[in-house]
Amino acid sequence: MTSTTTPRPLLATQAVTKAFHALVAVFEVSIEAYPGQILGIIGPNGAGKSTLFNVITGAVPLTAGRVLLEGRDITGLPMHRVARLGVARTFQNIRLFREMSVVENVMVGRHARGRSGILSAVLRLPSTRREDSTLLDRAMAYLELVGLAGRWQQPAGALTTGQQRLLELARALAAEPKVLLLDEPAAGLNTRETETLSDFIQCIPGELASSVVLIEHDMRLVMRASHRVAVIDRGRKIADGPPAEVQEDRAVIAAYLGDDFLARDTSRGRRPVEGRP
Ligand SMILES: Nc1ncnc2c1ncn2[C@@H]1O[C@H](COP(=O)(O)OP(=O)(O)OP(=O)(O)O)[C@@H](O)[C@H]1O
Ligand SMILES: [Mg+2]
Repeated sequence: MTSTTTPRPLLATQAVTKAFHALVAVFEVSIEAYPGQILGIIGPNGAGKSTLFNVITGAVPLTAGRVLLEGRDITGLPMHRVARLGVARTFQNIRLFREMSVVENVMVGRHARGRSGILSAVLRLPSTRREDSTLLDRAMAYLELVGLAGRWQQPAGALTTGQQRLLELARALAAEPKVLLLDEPAAGLNTRETETLSDFIQCIPGELASSVVLIEHDMRLVMRASHRVAVIDRGRKIADGPPAEVQEDRAVIAAYLGDDFLARDTSRGRRPVEGRP
């Protein structure tokens, strides 16, 4: 019997592979992000997490596999079309217009939604200026949300790392995405900032975006915030499940702590998921 209660994933990758010449950065990775949920993605450095985001958003062409948004095949679409269809992201290495003001950086995000494109937003063409007054109000609303409204006139480059990460988040949210992809949003943040961010991220699904995919090294954040966690190791998905289950997973512990750790402590990890590559 087929269940009618299982929701369709909002975003899915199906056996996505990305090779950079001889280097297979992502190999046959399938993930599913559901409405109202946060999907965490963890994995050691160089595992292929950011590359997966780059493939989803059309920043790099994939080698094989498919990307689906609301069941629609968006594989190979250029970045601006993927953005318009409702996929927004933040970057591991913060990408802001440092000379532009805080609010202008958010307005650029809104232009992913507005009629004028990002280029005309940056060049401030007349068509863009007409959209600006409503855009300004909306941009300010997103700055309020992340607590940066008081700094709206400052150049983005003058903000601290933590504030810049919040600004990137405001910009991505201003595009009113269906899916928000966050690439290590807590990198460079202190403990207090990370906790505030974590609380904020948990409020996003269903409110500010339908679902969130969260790449994060901060294990406490990812385990607390995520409904499900997928683990990538050396380009392959080695586990996918509820946070508590993934934390106990033998292959995950091996990926993080090394096989030696498991050899010393055989009581850990009840359930090997897949063979190592
Ligand atoms: N544009 C590129 N050209 C060539 N190799 C790349 C490119 N982008 C990523 N890689 C390589 O692909 C592999 C996966 O990199 P990726 O940045 O996706 O890892 P990651 O899981 O995000 O790591 P981290 O946790 O350090 O951010 C790495 O070996 C990286 O050097
Ligand atoms: Mg990365």
